[in-house]
Amino acid sequence: MQWSRRFSVCSVLNARFYEKAEEAIDDIKSGSKLLIGGFGVCGIPQHLISCIAKKGVENLTVVSNNAGLDGYGVGMLLNNKQVKRMIASYVGENKEFERQYLNGLLELEFVPQGTLAERIRAGGAGIPAFYTPTACNTLIHEGGAPIKYNDNGRVEIASLKKEARQFKGRDYILEEAIVGDFALVKAWKADKNGNLIFKLSANNFNAPMCKAAKVTIAEVEEIVDVGEIPPEHVHIPSIYVQRIVKPSPYEKRIERKKMRSNAKTINGKNEAISSREIIARRAALEFKQGMYVNLGIGIPVLSSNFVSPAIRVHLQSENGILGMGPYPDHEDKIDPDLINAGKETVTILPGASFFPSDESFAMIRGGHIDMTMLGALQVSKYGDLANWMIPGKMAKGMGGAMDLVSSDKTKVVVTMEHTSGGSPKILDTCTLPLTGKRCVDLIITEKGVFTVDKNLGLTLIEIANGLTVDDIKKCTACDFEVSRDLKPMQQSTEV
Ligand SMILES: *[C@@H]1O[C@H](CO)[C@@H](O)[C@H](O)[C@H]1NC(C)=O
Repeated sequence: MQWSRRFSVCSVLNARFYEKAEEAIDDIKSGSKLLIGGFGVCGIPQHLISCIAKKGVENLTVVSNNAGLDGYGVGMLLNNKQVKRMIASYVGENKEFERQYLNGLLELEFVPQGTLAERIRAGGAGIPAFYTPTACNTLIHEGGAPIKYNDNGRVEIASLKKEARQFKGRDYILEEAIVGDFALVKAWKADKNGNLIFKLSANNFNAPMCKAAKVTIAEVEEIVDVGEIPPEHVHIPSIYVQRIVKPSPYEKRIERKKMRSNAKTINGKNEAISSREIIARRAALEFKQGMYVNLGIGIPVLSSNFVSPAIRVHLQSENGILGMGPYPDHEDKIDPDLINAGKETVTILPGASFFPSDESFAMIRGGHIDMTMLGALQVSKYGDLANWMIPGKMAKGMGGAMDLVSSDKTKVVVTMEHTSGGSPKILDTCTLPLTGKRCVDLIITEKGVFTVDKNLGLTLIEIANGLTVDDIKKCTACDFEVSRDLKPMQQSTEV
């Protein structure tokens, strides 16, 4: 009521304020293309999504980095079968999604996370298409990725081949901008002129999406007077925001609550040191003072526990954090708006910064990150990496991995177990769809360490205690050189 009175006076204002979320989404029709902000369930416009679920419109195209959880976030729209096509980078958290996709009830376009953010950014910035190094020479470039299965499990719609071009001797592919009919975003505060700010890491895809739709609808936790958000702190100027609604009470969910425990090792007291820990303790030695580093989920994150406290590195998290800290050590420090790329609660260190996903991937793709450490299903002799899809089984998506390995200025370190169920993972040629071609610089397994030369192949430089070069040959499915200076496998001794 109060707001509508205000509008009759201040008709110059751009954004309209709605008391009811239902009214703000009333003109969303079946067949609409929706850009829905958030990373995991952090910074999602949950109230707007609920209203669309209640309204029951169908045949939606939803552009969202993730697919929510079963029955929460975008998951509500999936459960109601309101989505025709989903455009996302990672859907690993949603079982119903998998069922619908594999049964031909849902179309899915996988887009590397940084490409997704940049396609949306370009859409808002009037750029129809752009060239990117991400995903060159992968299924995303070459085409044929299954978008829709029929009910016999055959591929009915496959992705198309993308145009490629070289610039200064490097390969790039052409990616088209994404624009939507509506952007549904979540901000922390709006001022009465419609300027927005986001909280902590909850900006993510919200900022680029605000700019890339005909109508942007923001749900916010607070509406404050003009001037309360200082002009230089505004994240989204009001020109990009058409509708604002403030649901109350405001609820937020945490996907993976994590707390810091004092025990750093993952072994029980009397157990032998695990392969994972051997790999993590070797990987910890790759961290050098002052480096900017992006760590994958699993062994890479574990390795950060074994880095000497004398070495300070800046951890980058793809959802928009630089200067990420450890898991919270106290309930008070847990905030649903502060999560890492694995959707776990984290903290930040003094001097940290937050930014949206398009900015995060500018850092990544632009080669500003010194090192990225990630897991692999397979690595080839020349450094091809496969870690995002097993055809026939569910593909969870590549998330940010294709972008992370796309810059030749970033050192790519693979940490993985040497074999999988007895089968070698280091091969002449990867048999699984690639994440990146000739991109890996170093491979660390529990059996040894290899450097990768993208033209000459592998060199074994360290070997685990008790193993011979012949032992390594038996479980490695390609030739490799052995360094003249072969060393025992080094280990961080941090406890
Ligand atoms: C959704 O699309 C299907 C197939 O094109 C069509 O039969 C159906 O009427 C559409 N639903 C709505 C509500 O527009």
